[in-house]
Amino acid sequence: MKSVKLIFLFCLFCIFSFQVVFGQRNSIPEKVEKLLKKMTLAEKIGQLNQYSGNWEATGPITTNVGNKLDAVKRGEVGSILNIYGVEHTTVFQQAAMQSRLKIPLLFGQDVIHGFSITFPVPLAEAASWDMKAIEKSARVAATEAAASGVHWTFAPMVDIARDPRWGRVMEGAGEDPYLGSLIATARVHGFQGMGLGNLDAVMACAKHFTGYGDVIGGREYNSVDMSLHTLWEVYLPPFKAALDAGAATFMNSFNDLNGVPATGNKYLQRDILKGKWGFKGFVVSDWGSIGEMINHGYVKDSYEAAQVAINAGNDMDMESDSYLKNLAKLVADKKVSERVIDEAVRRILTKKYELGLFSDPYRYSDADREKRILNRKEHVEAARDVAKKSIVLLKNEHQVLPLSKNLNSIAIIGPMAKVKQELKGTWSLNVGNVNDIVSVYEGIQQQVGKTKLLYAKGCDVTDTSRAGFAEAYKIASQADVVVMAMGEQFDWTGEAKSRSNIHLPAIQEDLIKAVIATGKPLVVLLMAGRPMVFNYTADHAPAILYTWWLGNQAGNAIADVLFGNYNPAGKLPITFPRSEGQIPIYYNYFNTGRPAHDDVQTNYPPSYIDLSNTPRFAFGHGLSYTTFNYTNLQINKKNMKKKETITVTFNITNTGKYAGEEVAQFYLRQMVAQPLRPVKELKGFEKVMLEPNETKTITFTINSDKLSFYNEQLEKITQAGEFSLMVGSASDDIRLQDNFTLVD
Ligand code: NOJ
Repeated sequence: MKSVKLIFLFCLFCIFSFQVVFGQRNSIPEKVEKLLKKMTLAEKIGQLNQYSGNWEATGPITTNVGNKLDAVKRGEVGSILNIYGVEHTTVFQQAAMQSRLKIPLLFGQDVIHGFSITFPVPLAEAASWDMKAIEKSARVAATEAAASGVHWTFAPMVDIARDPRWGRVMEGAGEDPYLGSLIATARVHGFQGMGLGNLDAVMACAKHFTGYGDVIGGREYNSVDMSLHTLWEVYLPPFKAALDAGAATFMNSFNDLNGVPATGNKYLQRDILKGKWGFKGFVVSDWGSIGEMINHGYVKDSYEAAQVAINAGNDMDMESDSYLKNLAKLVADKKVSERVIDEAVRRILTKKYELGLFSDPYRYSDADREKRILNRKEHVEAARDVAKKSIVLLKNEHQVLPLSKNLNSIAIIGPMAKVKQELKGTWSLNVGNVNDIVSVYEGIQQQVGKTKLLYAKGCDVTDTSRAGFAEAYKIASQADVVVMAMGEQFDWTGEAKSRSNIHLPAIQEDLIKAVIATGKPLVVLLMAGRPMVFNYTADHAPAILYTWWLGNQAGNAIADVLFGNYNPAGKLPITFPRSEGQIPIYYNYFNTGRPAHDDVQTNYPPSYIDLSNTPRFAFGHGLSYTTFNYTNLQINKKNMKKKETITVTFNITNTGKYAGEEVAQFYLRQMVAQPLRPVKELKGFEKVMLEPNETKTITFTINSDKLSFYNEQLEKITQAGEFSLMVGSASDDIRLQDNFTLVD
């Protein structure tokens, strides 16, 4: 009897546990369904509508909205962007709590590279090839943004970019799908932390889906015309990686892709993203991009725009007002099924539940927490760490670098030497104090003891006057060493910042020329959010550091590198052209039937008749204060079956006198394939730290996934055949090579 009782109790316990577990697991979908049933069609449509709170506007504000707070109270708004700070988000959330169903608002913001502490622009961080540092950067940004009331960042931008004229090249991870995918993963993990529901997590948004990085001529908002093969091989992988990393949301794109605006593109959103890839989050339009389908000439009015967008899988309307105005009528007219609307609402409500906003709409609105978390010391340290790792040593003749800290004098020259705000680059927020930004001059000043610092601006970024040259020449002549801080205007990259001319302004190259004439050891620092063209400097300056826009800690990070506290290890994530005429230029091109020789006109077939086809600095290039030897490449088999793996090992030895890191890069080429394969594709890399004379063995594993590619039917396949494997320090500096065969 006793045992029957026990069994009965045990069964009760099991039923209870089962209910707890499954109740928990199913609770969000159940709650969403319950809420959906209570919602009127108008309330559902409200959830699909996103307005800007009017600060930091990044596009035209809809004019017919009236008071946005009232719209929130009427339940016409599901999300607000461009309102941050606990004080302000609270006001809007309070308005949402006055709506009939009290559905909390989502606060979205472009938290692109840091929040209160600005980190390097994303392209700069990509040059670190350091996934931990990149993830940390996103983690810090998320922690600060979440403490300031933000639930959702419109990042990471994972658009592959092969055209440095495009202003938004600064916002991505460069040209390579493999590196771009790893960085997309790191950033999503960083933003979302331990998962939605944690108070330091914000929803990530993989954008811009897709093709935006390939706008014709680098012209902003332009058309994209690319083969589906290139789309799948090059442009989609980072999006898939972001999705696999758990990105909660996607943003579509301003551009049309092969004649169909991305916002109204069913193939992209329904077939690929929500279909083949099974994405469970929601898709937001880009700013006004639903309405802009009228300008594209794809639809005739906002009624049709809303119809096309929602049916194509665009869930939320950012600032075009098309959904709010038209969806109810579209349902009444049977042009849009209420089921389609329900599906979009379901996706959005699910995220609000996952963030815990229904339990407590103000859980991101704690003013004390905000005060405690912003600008923490460890955030500043993380910013300095990734900033120094983002710097790329392009050239270092005669070992000008590192500089001694015991010099008598250093001349610091150039328009960027004392700037502060500019060091943040674009897509940074007006949070934090400008005095906390460390200029180049201040960074150097903090690291030298008795060294006398001489300063001359020399010229402005785009000066017409050379009046400052004489002073610059004078102080350079008096100094032991010259550091020149040069570059583009900080807002020459970013949205709507494409340039046809990406040269370092001529006045600055002239100033460099004038200073070189002193014969003094010279280091040129180049600041920009894109690859620039600077042929005179590249040929004549003995040492060049590409320092991008490094954020709050720029000056400290640059000084760390100048004085060798940190040995630079950055590698270019994007090719630097010799001239705009070479663009688009990238390392993973096809060999062609008549591959060009590098020398202009000396060989047939030629490069351009006036220029080599080779870039100025190749993808993966970046020097160190020390030198590395690559030896002893071994592969464990020469023939590989599809299910097998090959192990590749080689040694790297630090043959110089400084400890330093090397990013060893691993490339593959399938020699014969249909369709064609590129001459080289990055398939792995390892950042390795070596003391002088130290040797380490690096191992890469090749599996069939690394050998696979899309065939003409866009299926992922492998093809038997010979592969060349290459290991090196840059895409144009291959040190070891071997080959193997994939057999059927
Ligand atoms: C337009 C930009 O293209 C997008 O990246 C950004 O997130 C939105 N504006 C919101 O600011």
